Amino acid sequence: MLGIKNLYKSFGGIKAINNVTLEIEKSSITALIGPNGAGKTTLFNLINGSIKPDSGTIKLNDMNISGYEPHQLFNLGILRTFQIAHEFSSLTVKDNLMMVSPNQIGESILQTWLSPKKIRIEESEISKKANEVMDFLQLKHLANEYAGNLSGGQKKLLELGRTMMVKPEIVLLDEVGAGVNRTLLNTIGDAILRLNKEYNYTFCMIEHDIEFISRLCDPVIVMAEGSILMTDNISKVRENEKVIEVYLGKN
Ligand SMILES: Nc1ncnc2c1ncn2[C@@H]1O[C@H](COP(=O)(O)OP(=O)(O)OP(=O)(O)O)[C@@H](O)[C@H]1O
Ligand SMILES: [Mg+2]
Repeated sequence: MLGIKNLYKSFGGIKAINNVTLEIEKSSITALIGPNGAGKTTLFNLINGSIKPDSGTIKLNDMNISGYEPHQLFNLGILRTFQIAHEFSSLTVKDNLMMVSPNQIGESILQTWLSPKKIRIEESEISKKANEVMDFLQLKHLANEYAGNLSGGQKKLLELGRTMMVKPEIVLLDEVGAGVNRTLLNTIGDAILRLNKEYNYTFCMIEHDIEFISRLCDPVIVMAEGSILMTDNISKVRENEKVIEVYLGKN
């Protein structure tokens, strides 16, 4: 579904992405791992359009999306979870969800003027959708709680919930488990697995926690120094000597 070919991106003298070619299969939960500075976040930034490649192509379902702006990619369903931004912490959980949708619906200002009734219907549909999402993630009891008052793990669930308000093609997760305790990590893992199985979500996630990866991800793509080292299942990756070497070399 997502195809990257001969991608390059340098920052000054640093080849952050150095001839990356990879494929992410529809309905997979693909992990992207590698030591610090391997280029993982840079690759995500290139995929979601927040930075532009020096050369190479990125395709979504055979459509060349290289050079597209982040909002265009968002509308095409390339979603990236972000920490709940400061300005959203004083909105309720439900409002945080309801705010996401109109972007993708692409309602023009003119239509808003011409058809207030249509907007009301859409609003009630968005509200219904938000309720479904909260049900799915077991956040319903927190609907009217300010996002800023949620625990770290609940915020992560809300971030996932925001992706459910639109129709995603692929969801990019950058260290969703960082700083989250084991119990909450399991809850987040369950939500990811259910989204994958029940909603056919495709995920690509940058992770460091091997246990978490083993439970969720196949395949695992290993990056080092801007390049792909190998792609295989987690057991093959763990016993690969080159992989062991790059990790030991760095830590
Ligand atoms: N905006 C930038 N300007 C200059 N150098 C950058 C920029 N972004 C990334 N780099 C460099 O590119 C390389 C890859 O960084 P990147 O953040 O993609 O690594 P990473 O694999 O996500 O690492 P980590 O596991 O630490 O998050 C690093 O050497 C980094 O210093
Ligand atoms: Mg990173």
